[in-house]
Amino acid sequence: MTEPQIFKGLAGVTADTTAVSKVNPETNSLLYRGYPVQELAAAVDFEDVAWLLWYGELPSESEAQGFRDRERASRALAENVKAAIDLLPLSCHPMDVARTAVSVIGANHPKAEDSSPGSELEKAVELFAAFPAAVAYDQRRRRGQEPIAPREDLGYSANFLWMTFGEEAAPEVVDAFNTSMILYAEHSFNASTFTARVITSTLADLHSAVTGAIGALKGALHGGANEAVMHTFEEIGIRKDEPAEDAAARARTWMEDALAQKKKVMGFGHRVYKNGDSRVPTMKAALDAMVKHYGRAEILGLYEGLETAMQEAKNIKPNLDYPAGPTYHLMGFDTAMFTPLFIAARITGWTAHIMEQRAANSLIRPLAAYNGPEERHLP
Ligand code: ACO
Repeated sequence: MTEPQIFKGLAGVTADTTAVSKVNPETNSLLYRGYPVQELAAAVDFEDVAWLLWYGELPSESEAQGFRDRERASRALAENVKAAIDLLPLSCHPMDVARTAVSVIGANHPKAEDSSPGSELEKAVELFAAFPAAVAYDQRRRRGQEPIAPREDLGYSANFLWMTFGEEAAPEVVDAFNTSMILYAEHSFNASTFTARVITSTLADLHSAVTGAIGALKGALHGGANEAVMHTFEEIGIRKDEPAEDAAARARTWMEDALAQKKKVMGFGHRVYKNGDSRVPTMKAALDAMVKHYGRAEILGLYEGLETAMQEAKNIKPNLDYPAGPTYHLMGFDTAMFTPLFIAARITGWTAHIMEQRAANSLIRPLAAYNGPEERHLP
């Protein structure tokens, strides 16, 4: 018998087709339903991108208006979701809270087990609309602050920031947040999306698939990297008002030491892109805008010091999590909240994939090459 070929980590394996997004590592490009992601980030709101990922086309004016009205009316968190969050200890990670919140939102849904396309879309829209309230609720509870109700007069990003911080964010901050949401929205068969598709392939419900995807996203090799990036910055030391060159010099030394100790530095490298993540230039521009807005040149110093030292030593480039982490830090989010922000964005891509998987389903069940003991018997 010929030995089966093993593709460790499924690296290089094409598992299925998808029309949701196209990642092209050769040209470093990422298309959502055909549109380059940087064009979308420059021109439309995250709400439009959500619609695009679900429906395959950007919304017309009347569709966009109808969708915004629906989204704004579905933002409030159910009382039992708040109660479930309150039961969780502050010592647990916000990703655990996010996972629990989605699970309870699913349990509440009257059409939880109805997987018809109309019902799946309805659930996707409602989850997209309500999830930010769970993140904001948890961020505020961790700071001992009262929750803030959503505002229907604000767009998705402005309202997210309002519910979290209780003040209206400056337009450039809203823009940077909107950009991050669009860039995080979708990325083909990454680990969490594939998890969502595996769960969907068993005919389980949409909220189970999203809950499982959150578990996959939590890890530092995937979504958890945006949080880990900030831990690196914190370990090096963030010194407000330090000249950027001094911060960069300290960051370079830190990176040289880390690489000498063969450490993996989070926020760098990518399984698919080998010449740079297509999303980084757009997110870096958003970070630059935030550095300018908040007057925090030392953050840019740390960023560029680490990036240059990694480039010189290993020619490994940053991924999206690298500029996203410090951007969220400057906006005022606690570091542990960064990956839940990623969820808020990726709910759109996950649910688009869940619907695509559902429409042409085949149970995902690979084989394993057994390498345990030969058959043996009890004495
Ligand atoms: N820091 C240091 N060295 C690295 C890094 C890194 N971040 N990434 C890759 N390398 C090195 C490895 O040590 C290895 O070197 P070697 O051949 O000398 O042993 C080589 O590059 C190949 O690394 P692999 O881990 O085999 O590459 P793979 O394609 O499997 O990994 C991954 C991709 C997991 C993303 C990896 O680059 C990594 O661990 N990065 C840090 C985590 C991270 O930032 N994840 C976010 C992903 S993007 C996202 O979720 C938005």
